[in-house]
Amino acid sequence: MRLYLVVLVIVSIEAKEPASKYCDVVSTDPTKHCYVKETLSTVAHSPNQLSVDKTTNTLFFSFDFGQGEYVPAILHIDSRNLSVLKGVKDAFAIANDPTTGDMYFGGSHGIYRYTPRNKSLQKLNIQNLDIWWLYIKKNIYFIKFPSLSAYYYANRTVKAVPELKGGIVHQFVLDKEDNIFFINGTGLFGVKHGDDKPILLRDHPRFLGIATDNNGYVHVCSEDGIFVVTKMVQKVKKVINVQGVLGLTFDRGNHIIYSDSHEIVRLVPMATENYYDKFRGL
Ligand SMILES: *[C@@H]1O[C@H](CO)[C@@H](O)[C@H](O)[C@H]1NC(C)=O
Ligand SMILES: *[C@@H]1O[C@H](CO)[C@@H](O)[C@H](O)[C@H]1NC(C)=O
Ligand SMILES: *[C@@H]1O[C@H](CO)[C@@H](O)[C@H](O)[C@H]1NC(C)=O
Ligand SMILES: *[C@@H]1O[C@H](CO)[C@@H](O)[C@H](O)[C@H]1NC(C)=O
Repeated sequence: MRLYLVVLVIVSIEAKEPASKYCDVVSTDPTKHCYVKETLSTVAHSPNQLSVDKTTNTLFFSFDFGQGEYVPAILHIDSRNLSVLKGVKDAFAIANDPTTGDMYFGGSHGIYRYTPRNKSLQKLNIQNLDIWWLYIKKNIYFIKFPSLSAYYYANRTVKAVPELKGGIVHQFVLDKEDNIFFINGTGLFGVKHGDDKPILLRDHPRFLGIATDNNGYVHVCSEDGIFVVTKMVQKVKKVINVQGVLGLTFDRGNHIIYSDSHEIVRLVPMATENYYDKFRGL
């Protein structure tokens, strides 16, 4: 019996090894040269808004249930347990509040708040809202559909975001210093906190998604990769070459999670000494 167990363990280690020796994705970021691709879930109707509750390392994503109504799915990252959250009507937009762990969902029926800890779901009492995008930092920030204009909700009132007043915004985030970064059909823009003149940072490729990582760095994704906005010089640098990225977020360990048209993937960096780089021929 004991011998049998030992054999099993060895077999499982050997079976795992080859896969972890090759780079799935090679990064241009010198500190994280190699990533292993982990498929967290395969999905038929691609989600483009994703968000992680860092307190439980649980990924929430919206997917089209078929009738144009977006349903929130819950994926516990460590166990890969996948379920659907009932009670939210149309969760097109998804965001999390990193200070409380609460999740927010927005769509044609307004904004909902979900507390994973006690599984309580509440609809916020704001009238006449169709939500396209949500972002939580101290206040609840959102973009209304179909005007694609940016607002925030504080002290029970809805106000326009001053830095973005009058503009068309597809998605936006705030960095550590509350500077705003947004994408629209023209490109990626930055606006300094309290300023009202957006600066065009890059007008190609077409950016589809934007997210801040756990350290407040702004990332954007496009059909051909993931980019980081490097703060010092306001440069936008491609860090990962992957095709067809629709949306992105970061897990508790600050690993990139992204969706494409058919799956949700987590990229886990590997130390240089633990892999063979097929491009370097070793
Ligand atoms: C998976 O998640 C569902 C819903 O949260 C829960 O009821 C179930 O117990 C979980 N299963 C496992 C194996 O953790
Ligand atoms: C769950 O927790 C949230 C946040 O602490 C609180 O507002 C809500 O009332 C709680 N719900 C229940 C059912 O305990
Ligand atoms: C909300 O009200 C408090 C107290 O009146 C005030 O200090 C704060 O600045 C207000 N916040 C916003 C975003 O207006
Ligand atoms: C994107 O935003 C900029 C800055 O507000 C604006 O000048 C531009 O017209 C917008 N692009 C589109 C396609 O709406």
